[in-house]
Amino acid sequence: MANLWSGRFAGDPDAALFEFGASFRFDRRLFEDDVRGSLAWAEGLERAGVLTRRDAGVIRAALEDIASRGASDPAFFTSEAAGKDEDVHSFVERELVLRVGDPGRRLHTGRSRNEQVAVDLRLYLKRRIPLLQNRIAALAAVLADQAEASGDALMPSYTHMRRAQPVLAAHFFLAHAAALRRDYGGFASVLAEADELPLGSGAIAGTSYAIDVQALAGRLGFSRIVLNSIDATGDRDFVASFLHASALGMVHLSRLAEDLILFTSEEFGFFDLADTAATGSSLMPQKKNPDPLELVRGKAGRVIGRLTGWLATMKGLPIGYSKDLQEDKEALFDAEDTLLASLNAAGSVTAGLSINRSVTGAAASGLLLATDVADYLVAKGMPFREAHEVVGALVRRLVGERRSFDVLTLDEWRAHSPLFDADVKASITPEGSVARKTTPQSTHPDAVARALEELRAWIKGK
Ligand code: ARG
Repeated sequence: MANLWSGRFAGDPDAALFEFGASFRFDRRLFEDDVRGSLAWAEGLERAGVLTRRDAGVIRAALEDIASRGASDPAFFTSEAAGKDEDVHSFVERELVLRVGDPGRRLHTGRSRNEQVAVDLRLYLKRRIPLLQNRIAALAAVLADQAEASGDALMPSYTHMRRAQPVLAAHFFLAHAAALRRDYGGFASVLAEADELPLGSGAIAGTSYAIDVQALAGRLGFSRIVLNSIDATGDRDFVASFLHASALGMVHLSRLAEDLILFTSEEFGFFDLADTAATGSSLMPQKKNPDPLELVRGKAGRVIGRLTGWLATMKGLPIGYSKDLQEDKEALFDAEDTLLASLNAAGSVTAGLSINRSVTGAAASGLLLATDVADYLVAKGMPFREAHEVVGALVRRLVGERRSFDVLTLDEWRAHSPLFDADVKASITPEGSVARKTTPQSTHPDAVARALEELRAWIKGK
């Protein structure tokens, strides 16, 4: 018998077409989940009176042996016999029958690979997502360390990639950590979505055997049963959600990478990359290239592609299982691997950054204090719209003269508004600007210190 369905056919399948349809090459990653699902199914069949206690015991012992062999011996998956297995489900079943004969042939009673692959994938995500979340929290911890190390260092913030307002460098690092926390929560939602037991759905219509699906769910750690067997065997929304969470995570890493690529460039010089986090040029001796950051940015496109590719695969499918759904696994595994590798790379590059305080401080001073000048006039009673006009005209003049606020004499200030007083000079500084912020999410040093503390507490709770 060549495979799980050969009885229906007069001859063997075309070798190339069988190879085209085979998924063992990549779905062997679901091995431990498949064995777990089968152990639970054997128990379900025993409770339903389909398997004798003896047969169930024999199956259980063999599956446990298969599991430990798989965990300890990589060659197990590359044997000649394994080379002919269509998928991980066929592999496990063949190994089982090889060990125990007939009882093994009873295990697939009332069950379909359609629900098996669905349960395997859900179990896989339930064990793998926490690892991704752990790496997300680890990168947030690196950002927290950088926030702490930068102390009261100032830097410009940017809108439209033009200097906007002074902020603490710590505030910049914490901004990226805030996005990562959403990713953590996004993956928690995917976990909740995957937390449904599809077993009992059969190939599409349900199973004819008295399977206690609640007990199965409890055994496998699922908190709910799927709503509908037709939907359950063809539903991969949880894969789409996983890919979405991964793509968004990569978008966040890409934006961090882009910021660091810019800010470590000669033009900005805000931060230096550690030598260990950069690469040289084969031709230009002076170069210190941010390759790992560029790759993180580049790989974001790849994960976004996995998401859009998968949505395109799903969109034309009739409800129920179609083989197209097998395409879910390479998308999922590749997105997972790429995100994990990128989180680690972003973490080690970020950990090695050092700040050039004098450069960031100098860049945080100058015309980006214009909003503070307008606020100064507002404090003296001028309506904001009028203050904006007055300061706009002052800025226009200063840009023309290639000067900034700090060199203005009091007379020059007053030429623009009599509301300017001697206190203006001391008031219009980057330090003053951040210290005047009042909201909890702002760059006020106390707010940033509290945000850092709160982030540390969040990380600790993970
Ligand atoms: N390898 C298949 C997949 O990944 C398993 C389910 C096969 N079901 C089937 N009816 N051919 O989707």
